[in-house]
Amino acid sequence: MPYPYVLLSAAVSLDGCLDDTGPERLLLSSPADFDRVDEVRAASDAILIGAGTIRADNPRLLVNSEKRRAARVAAGRPEYPLKVAVSASGDLDPTANFWHTGGDKILCTTDRGAARASTLGITQHATVVPLGPHLNWPDLLEHLHDTRGVRRLMVEGGGTIHTQLLQQELADELHLVLAPLLVGDPKAPRLFGPGTYQTGRLRLLETRRIEDVVLTRYVPTAPGTGARVTPADRHWLALACDLAAQCPPSDTAFSVGAVVVAADGTELARGHSREGGDPVVHAEEAALAKITPSDPRLPTATIYSSLEPCAHRASRPHPCARLILTSGIRRVVTAWREPDTFVQSADGTGTLTAQGAQVLVLPQYEERAKAPNGHLVG
Ligand SMILES: NC(=O)c1ccc[n+]([C@@H]2O[C@H](COP(=O)([O-])OP(=O)(O)OC[C@H]3O[C@@H](n4cnc5c(N)ncnc54)[C@H](OP(=O)(O)O)[C@@H]3O)[C@@H](O)[C@H]2O)c1
Repeated sequence: MPYPYVLLSAAVSLDGCLDDTGPERLLLSSPADFDRVDEVRAASDAILIGAGTIRADNPRLLVNSEKRRAARVAAGRPEYPLKVAVSASGDLDPTANFWHTGGDKILCTTDRGAARASTLGITQHATVVPLGPHLNWPDLLEHLHDTRGVRRLMVEGGGTIHTQLLQQELADELHLVLAPLLVGDPKAPRLFGPGTYQTGRLRLLETRRIEDVVLTRYVPTAPGTGARVTPADRHWLALACDLAAQCPPSDTAFSVGAVVVAADGTELARGHSREGGDPVVHAEEAALAKITPSDPRLPTATIYSSLEPCAHRASRPHPCARLILTSGIRRVVTAWREPDTFVQSADGTGTLTAQGAQVLVLPQYEERAKAPNGHLVG
C-alpha cells in the first residue's frame, strides 16, 4: 500500500527528555535549528502531531519564512503544509492555536472522537476524519496518501506518536536534535517508550552541528518479513537502483544493481552487472559471490535487485534465481519484472516462488530501475 514518506522530527535533552514537566514548553533547539525545522516543514506536504502535544505546547506549526511560503506557492503548492492532528478521544480545545493558524487542518480520530470533536466545535475549524472504532496507522497513512495527496509527511511528536510509528516500522527517516541541557525529572516525557523496535542498528545519514545543538539523521535498516514491506525495504531497493546506474553500459545485457541485507539490517554484500571488468557477471551473482556460503544469516536475509533475477542464462551454468535459492535466501524484493528484450517470457519470479521464496515487486521503483536501460527498452 503506498504511504507518504514519513519523517520523524524531535529534539531531546542530554538525558533523553522531550520536555520538562513545567507549564511552559521547554525550548531545546537553538534559533538556527528552529530555522532548519522551518525549512523541513516547508518541504513537507503535511505536518502531523499528537493531541498530547497540542495540549502541552499549544503549537502553531507554521512555515514562518515568507520566502519559503512564497516558494511553495510559486511551485503550485498550498502556502502552508496541511496540518494533521491525531487523537483517539477527540477531546481537544477548539481555541488552541493549531486550529486558528496556517492553512488546511484535519483531525484524524476514531468514530467516538469524531462525535466528541464535533460537540466541541472542532468541525468549524478543521475537517474531522473518523477512521473507525480504533485508529490504526496504516489506515491513517493511506488516507493521507490517497485522499489528501500527501507524499512527504513530517511528524513533530510527541513521544507517544513517534514511538508507535517507529515500532510499527512506518517511519522512513528520523531527525534527532540533541540539546546541551539536562532535565533530570523522572516524570518528564521521553522520546521513545519501551516496546519492540527493529533489531540491529539504524543507519546514520548525517551529523550536523547547528550552534550548540547537534542534528543527527537516521534511517531504519531492517528488511520486512514475508509480504510486509518496511521503509528499509524501500531504502535498500532504491540503493539497488542506484547501483544499476553504475554499470558499464551494454547493448546485450541489462544494467542491474543488487544488495543482500541480513534480517537485522546489516548489509552483507552488494553488486552490479559487469562489475570488476567481468563482462557477463550479473548483479545478484556479483553480490552473492562476496558472501561465505555458510553465513548463517543467509536464510533470513533479503536480496534486493533492481530487475527480477534471471531464470535462464546462456553465459553461465546457473541463472540468478537458482543462485539465490542455493544461497538459502528466501525473500527477494525487486522493482521491475524482466521484459522480453533478451529472453522470451523470462520468469525468475516463477522459479523462485516454486521453491518457496517470497518475491515482492515494488512498481514505484520501476522507472528508476529502467533508467540506465533506456537504450534497451525505450
Ligand atoms: N522536543 C520535541 O521535539 C517535542 C516535540 C513534540 C512534543 N514534545 C513534547 O511531548 C509531550 C507530548 O507527548 P505525548 O507523548 O504526551 O503526546 P503526543 O504523542 O503528542 O500525543 C499523544 C496523544 O495522541 C493521540 N494518539 C496517539 N496515538 C494514537 C493512536 N494510535 N490512535 C489514536 N490517538 C492516538 C492520543 O490522543 P487523545 O488523548 O486525545 O486520545 C494520545 O493521548 C509534550 O510535553 C511536548 O512538549 C516535544
